[in-house]
Order: sequence, then structure tokens, then C-alpha cells
Amino acid sequence: MQPIDVRNIKRVACIGTGTIGARWAAYFLSRGLEVTASDPSPTGEDFLRRHIRECWPTLERLGVSANADPDRLSFFADPAEAVAEADFVQESAPERLDLKQDLLARIDAACPADRIIASSTSGFMASELQTKCAHPERVLIGHPFNPPHIIPAVEVVGGKKTAPEAVDSAVDFYNLVGKRAIKLNKEVTGHVVNRLQAALWREAVYLAAEGVASVADIDDAIAYGPGLRWAIMGPTITFHLAGGEGGMPHFLEQFTNPMHSWWDALGSPRLTPEVKKTIMDGVEDEAAGRTPPELAAERDRCLLALLEALAKQRKAG
Ligand SMILES: NC(=O)c1ccc[n+]([C@@H]2O[C@H](COP(=O)([O-])OP(=O)(O)OC[C@H]3O[C@@H](n4cnc5c(N)ncnc54)[C@H](O)[C@@H]3O)[C@@H](O)[C@H]2O)c1
Repeated sequence: MQPIDVRNIKRVACIGTGTIGARWAAYFLSRGLEVTASDPSPTGEDFLRRHIRECWPTLERLGVSANADPDRLSFFADPAEAVAEADFVQESAPERLDLKQDLLARIDAACPADRIIASSTSGFMASELQTKCAHPERVLIGHPFNPPHIIPAVEVVGGKKTAPEAVDSAVDFYNLVGKRAIKLNKEVTGHVVNRLQAALWREAVYLAAEGVASVADIDDAIAYGPGLRWAIMGPTITFHLAGGEGGMPHFLEQFTNPMHSWWDALGSPRLTPEVKKTIMDGVEDEAAGRTPPELAAERDRCLLALLEALAKQRKAG
């Protein structure tokens, strides 16, 4: 596969427009791209158009392209029609392997062979998804984070049959449209971010199950502590700073033995009915009557403020 000049990508097909796909569509529209969409749900088109309308004020605040227009959207019942003239495909159908394999094979058959097909899958590997495709070299993972119209990171990873040029072009494309592409050099279960989230949450669940602290206090330990630093720099460079002027060598000199003892002490909980109850009761106390949509609105409002503040500081720095 030849590298793609990603500046020529003008039309993106969003296949599956639920929670993630609808927001992907809104995001691509905000970057001045045209979107062709498809979803088999009888309410799919209404859901999509409503979500684009709801996301638009946020996207305007984050900064839309000069030619951005929420109405540059066409909806098709048949995914083959939606992808036929697309320059890039973002698949966000339900997380079921057989469904995705068949859908990707249909997309692959309907879409010119030099177009990238990215799957939003949180858990499957590209090698599993591309098995039924005649052109597996352009099938890869472009894994976003919820809500994908706000969070910049997108993990990009190919499968055994994906061309390295396709992965590089997808990285270029996501970066060009304002995302921060994270390139994985090889496939791994859960990709990188879900592994990191799972590692931290495993310990949070363990601590709650052991009664070390309440769910709310464990959450606040991150949100009011290292989470604030991690929004600025990742965990490794953060520890580089913990080494003072001696940086990482000094940090490792001091903390290798303690770190090994902490690693050895980490828990390996299972989500048994009792542990689930502890987590569900704990999070209900923490939410203090706020519903998930109310909490999501609060999260998105704060996320926007954070992204704006970071953009301003990074520009100044
Ligand atoms: N929800 C998250 O936090 C999150 C985050 C990152 C990635 N993802 C991934 O994004 C994908 C979509 O997840 P979601 O949370 O948006 O799910 P969802 O259930 O909200 O949306 C899935 C959409 O796909 C549609 N659909 C059903 N069958 C289809 C088919 N055959 N072809 C095309 N569309 C079909 C459904 O009608 C629905 O609108 C999954 O692969 C998931 O792993 C989810």
C-alpha cells in the first residue's frame, strides 16, 4: 500500500453511529470534513443528527474549521453506499467480533482499495477484525476515548496483515484533524490505554474491596492527586521530575526497591457479586444523587476548561 497524502481526505464515512460513532461524526464535521454515515437502527439518523446538534456548541468552543458545517452529512441505510465515495472509514459498530468481521468485509468490498478502514474497537485486535477482508492491508484500529469529540487521544495499531504505511497514514490523518494519535508498534490485548486504565482500576477495586478507603476517597486520591499531573505529563516523565535535578537516574536509584515492594503488594481482585456490590454502593454514595448524565455534563464542562487552559499554557510555553 502506498502512503496516502492525508490532506486529500475530505469525506469520512462513519459506520455505526451510536455513543461513539455519532460523536466521531460531529468531530469530523467540525474539522471541515464531509461525513457519510450509516446505522441500521430505525432511530439511527435522528439519534445522529440530535447528537451532532448537541455536540456542536462544545465543538465551536474548542474551535471549528472555517468551512465546518454540521449539515455536510448524508445518511444511508446501506453501509456500502456510505463508504463507496469515502476517503477514510471510521467503523464504530457494537463490540461483537462476528458482527465487526462481517461488517468490515462488506465495507472492504464496497470501498476503493487505497482507503483506510479504521475500527473504534476497544478490545479486538486488527488481526482478528481483518480476517474476512480482501484488502486487509488497509484495516487497522483507530481507538478513541469517550467522549471522542472532546478527548484528543486516538490509539492507532495495525494487525498482522496491515501495511505499515496505512498505520502511518492514519496517524498523520488523526493528527492533521487535531487529534493526538498514539502509535502502537504491535498489537496487544486492550491496546495501551485500556491496559493502563485496567491496571489502575484493578488496584482501586482491590483497595475498596479490602476496605482500605471508600470508593469516593480512592477516586479523589487520583482526581485531586496524580490525575492532575497526568493531564499535563504522563507517569514516566512525571517520575523523571520526582528525581529532582538528577531526573530519572536519581529516581530509580531511590525508588527501585520500594517500587518492587509496591508492585509485589498490588492486589488481583475479581469482580465477584460482593465486590461489585461494594463498588456500586460506593459509587452511588460518591454520586450523591447526581445522575450519570448530570455527572457526564459536569465532566465535559470541566474537560473543556482543562483543555482550554492546557492549550493556552502550551502555546505560551
Ligand atoms: N463507549 C465507549 O466508551 C467506547 C470508547 C471507545 C471505543 N468504543 C468502541 O466503539 C464501538 C461502538 O461502541 P458504542 O459505545 O458507540 O456502542 P453503541 O451501542 O452506543 O453504538 C453502536 C451503534 O452501532 C449500530 N449498529 C448495530 N449493528 C450494526 C451493524 N451491523 N453495522 C453498523 N452499525 C451497527 C447500533 O445501531 C448503534 O447505533 C465499539 O467497538 C466500542 O468498543 C466505545
